[in-house]
Amino acid sequence: MSTAAPHPDAIDTSIADLRIRRVAGSLGGEVLDYRLGADLPAQAIADLNTALVQHKVLFFRGQDHLDDAAHQAFGALFGRTVAHPTVPAPDGTKLFELDASKGGGRADSWHTDVTFVDAFPKISILRGVTIPAFGGDTVWANTAAAYERLPAHLKALADSLWAVHSNDYDYGADRVQLEDKRLEHHAKVFVSALFEAEHPVVHVHPVSGERALLLGHFVKKIAGLSSNESARIFELLQNRVVRLENTVRWSWRQNDVVIWDNRATQHFAINDYGNQPRVVRRVTVHGDSAVSIDGQRSRTRIRPEATNDAHIDTLIATTA
Ligand SMILES: [Fe+2]
Repeated sequence: MSTAAPHPDAIDTSIADLRIRRVAGSLGGEVLDYRLGADLPAQAIADLNTALVQHKVLFFRGQDHLDDAAHQAFGALFGRTVAHPTVPAPDGTKLFELDASKGGGRADSWHTDVTFVDAFPKISILRGVTIPAFGGDTVWANTAAAYERLPAHLKALADSLWAVHSNDYDYGADRVQLEDKRLEHHAKVFVSALFEAEHPVVHVHPVSGERALLLGHFVKKIAGLSSNESARIFELLQNRVVRLENTVRWSWRQNDVVIWDNRATQHFAINDYGNQPRVVRRVTVHGDSAVSIDGQRSRTRIRPEATNDAHIDTLIATTA
């Protein structure tokens, strides 16, 4: 009995000595036989950045050697990490912990992280600490492919639009399992200070030059439209982002690490594991404001008077 040869594109070997197994057709690659750590040379980080821009989400199995400190030190090789000054972190760390047993710990709504500020994170690095026996997968969507697959007339429409993103968004809009403690957490912690930023609906990726849709659950409205019109246009474009052919789904194992390009993706953590414990910890890397196709930068609309990086960090850390 003969075995079919693997497809020539199944493993991407085009970037240095990386071997990247394509997990889905549109985005997502598992970097094989790779040990992450703060001791990686600058060239290795440059190679990972190249792979990240190309594949948009990189998965690494078996990073058992990474503890909280090593995770943070590794993350810092990608840029300034935004740590959490007030919400309790795991002992002795500045990591942000998403614990499903707590108020803000389930990210079951499509979003790009922290788009309610003009300069939102460019990269997130998430580590699986306690993984349920079943359920709890995360799904990412390729927002550049979503734009590319729009027909020309919808591209032209999207190109011209700007959207207002806010942390005071409709938290329950897309969540069907919503306990009171989660709503409370959102109201008390997440919206404790109001932020609004205006981003182009189509932005240009600073490294790849690709155009990508910039939407997700923080969108409050499309600028210049009525709320009803806005909701319809948002739904039309957002539905394009999350079409299944634009996505990759990852089944976590303990000590997996996932790195994603927050400038070219949205993500969704599937809330199908009931009361099983699920804990993941995240390092988030600061990013720039978005740039529209005609070169305009994202704008801040509302930002608390006393805002400084620590305030931003608080909100970043309370955002799943
Ligand atoms: Fe998130």
